[in-house]
Amino acid sequence: MPIIKFDPRQSNFLIHGDRRYFLTTIDGSAFLVVDKCPHRGGPLHLGYLNCRKNAIVCPWHDSSVSIHRLQQLAIPLIWRHDVVVAILPGSETTPVIFKHRNLLATPEISTQDTLKVV
Ligand code: FES
Repeated sequence: MPIIKFDPRQSNFLIHGDRRYFLTTIDGSAFLVVDKCPHRGGPLHLGYLNCRKNAIVCPWHDSSVSIHRLQQLAIPLIWRHDVVVAILPGSETTPVIFKHRNLLATPEISTQDTLKVV
């Protein structure tokens, strides 16, 4: 299981083998969210935040994935002084690719945002 360190100002999206993650904060805690819709693997980072349902809506078939579920599946991390440290599941020999992408392309406007795009 590789230990990764990265600057969240430079990277908010990781690829490790066939797994993808995006960085976000949920209820004030930072997580690496698994970028794979539970329905059929769609790219959740291209979905949008539905604040009324407290969920991300997948761009492929419009399933809502609850923030609670995403928290359960997410990778915990430590974020300190502009360095994020996390332990990814999987092989240490598989390279980790760090990227910066636009996340949650069309978030809804809400007065009660619980999820912030990094
Ligand atoms: S893959 Fe996400 S709704 Fe189908």
